[in-house]
Amino acid sequence: MSLRIESLRCRLGGREVLHDIGPLDARPGELTALIGPNGAGKSTLLRAIAGHQRAHGHFILDGRALDDEPLETRARRLYYLPQSTETGSRLSVFETVLLAVRTLAPGDGPSALRRVRDTLARLELEPLAERQLTALSGGQRQRVAIAQALAREPRLLLLDEPTSALDLHHQLQTLDWLGEHARQHGTIVVLAVHDLTLAARYASRLWMLDAGRAVAQGPPGEVLTVERLREVYAIEAEVTWPAEGPPRVTPLAASHRTPSRR
Ligand SMILES: Nc1ncnc2c1ncn2[C@@H]1O[C@H](COP(=O)(O)OP(=O)(O)OP(=O)(O)O)[C@@H](O)[C@H]1O
Ligand SMILES: [Mg+2]
Repeated sequence: MSLRIESLRCRLGGREVLHDIGPLDARPGELTALIGPNGAGKSTLLRAIAGHQRAHGHFILDGRALDDEPLETRARRLYYLPQSTETGSRLSVFETVLLAVRTLAPGDGPSALRRVRDTLARLELEPLAERQLTALSGGQRQRVAIAQALAREPRLLLLDEPTSALDLHHQLQTLDWLGEHARQHGTIVVLAVHDLTLAARYASRLWMLDAGRAVAQGPPGEVLTVERLREVYAIEAEVTWPAEGPPRVTPLAASHRTPSRR
């Protein structure tokens, strides 16, 4: 049981931005990181899986085509968190997370409240529970958006740069908890990230995109090579292997990129 993507193509503004992507696989209970430079197609890929972007291809979740699921089932099984979490909502943090849970299971009173409280506690959002969303900083708002996603406990979680606005403590804390949540609930989590060391540390599998093509997938140690970083990211980097655990990527310098590449 897993997520599989096959033959995914997408055109935007008269241009093909995803070229025959797949087969790509993501497994339950672990994080899969979607990496690649700006404009590689990460957000488009996540939007396409979520059904927010018209695309051609096959998305198979637990052996069933996502397209065949009734809309309501699909909404229940899948949660997509977009790259931007700008909002004009005047709801409080507590109400916002509660609404995410209630939308799924109306009338589920005490257990919904408990789930909201637990989620806020895990993301260290309790002190902000009564605050309006409009009165939060960008990073605080991003943590509320993650709380909404996790409180719904979907089968498939698609997160577009969920830690981009977070300080270092909250990046680690959020990724720790995402990993734990995935293990506990058997969730399939695909998240776009730019920090390759964090991707390698938290994800057991990477999908690397470049200019609309999937150029590599697999464990971080196989995907993150000095040659591939030069080719895809146009950087000179050092990839080091600590005695234990995943590789670390240290960017050293930007190298010249052929302008025709994108
Ligand atoms: N609405 C649109 N119309 C036309 N082209 C678009 C549109 N949205 C995105 N694109 C193009 O599609 C390509 C992929 O964009 P996408 O947002 O998926 O990249 P990304 O990998 O998420 O980049 P980033 O790291 O900057 O978030 C880019 O070349 C982008 O310019
Ligand atoms: Mg993006």
